[in-house]
Amino acid sequence: MIELPLDPASSFPEALADAARLTDALLEHHLVVPDGPEARVVKAMRYSALAPGKRLRPFLALASAQLFSVARRSALQAAAAVELVHAYSLVHDDLPAMDNSDLRRGRPTCHKEFDEATAVLAGDALLTFAFEVLAQPDTHGDPAVRCELVTALAQAAGDRGMVGGQMIDLLAENDPSLDIGAITRLQRLKTGALIAFSCEAGAILGKATAEARLALRGYAHDLGLAFQIADDLLDVEGSAAETGKPVGSDAAAGKATFVSILGVERARSQAELLIDQAVSHLDLFEEKAELLRQAAHFVINRRA
Ligand code: IPE
Ligand code: IPE
Ligand code: MG
Ligand code: MG
Ligand code: MG
Repeated sequence: MIELPLDPASSFPEALADAARLTDALLEHHLVVPDGPEARVVKAMRYSALAPGKRLRPFLALASAQLFSVARRSALQAAAAVELVHAYSLVHDDLPAMDNSDLRRGRPTCHKEFDEATAVLAGDALLTFAFEVLAQPDTHGDPAVRCELVTALAQAAGDRGMVGGQMIDLLAENDPSLDIGAITRLQRLKTGALIAFSCEAGAILGKATAEARLALRGYAHDLGLAFQIADDLLDVEGSAAETGKPVGSDAAAGKATFVSILGVERARSQAELLIDQAVSHLDLFEEKAELLRQAAHFVINRRA
């Protein structure tokens, strides 16, 4: 009897809390502070990766793996890997050269707590360590599956994914020529790609059929875009006390977002539409996808 990633009888809030607890335990286990002076960079990695975030990407990896009855340890390795890449992306996103942010997850950003050079190195090490985790035999007994996960994460994180989106995001500052199509592409790359990987990882580990993969990809595609629209709405309507990061920074930096182009009301309707669409992709999985359906509604109703 394999141990499933999540308790199938749990509600979404319970499952999200379980995903966070299980992922953090594995990250704790993986991120051991060594004795030498290089301990500083590992402390910075732990500071950022274990800070209190939502752990939505680990949840998505675990809930997707659940659809294909993947063993818990395999799913958790993928969950930890995607959270490591996400944590790195936040450390670098907050640097003075990028969004120049002082607050993250309710705490000083990595470069404020340590220093800029340490934050650059901690981000680099979080990123590379994610691939080491995926390559470990614990991730899957079949090396071809591990290789497929490594390839998928590399594509989602790199210049054809998150990094590419971050490049366009920086170029888009104070660029009034950006239209809704260009913003959609930007958001799909910078945020959507890692969210899509989180869902795809479960399908890869479970050797899912092409039909199931396509359905999950459709779900993740719409979810990722709605997630970033919600993030942009929180930057306008949220508070630093709730989100744990500064608000108003997109407008201050002259960033083009769904909200700056469509306005608050239309951006919210667009996000709601995307969530309905995301949920409709899950029909194939019937009641097995209930947690993923609830996650979709959480994504646009969250306050953090
Ligand atoms: C923030 O992501 C960065 C974006 C891609 C919008 P999250 O909102 O998932 O941040 P944490 O992990 O909960 O801190
Ligand atoms: C960054 O988007 C997404 C990443 C790839 C890290 P934002 O710059 O909007 O994220 P926040 O608002 O700082 O979390
Ligand atoms: Mg940014
Ligand atoms: Mg930012
Ligand atoms: Mg933001």
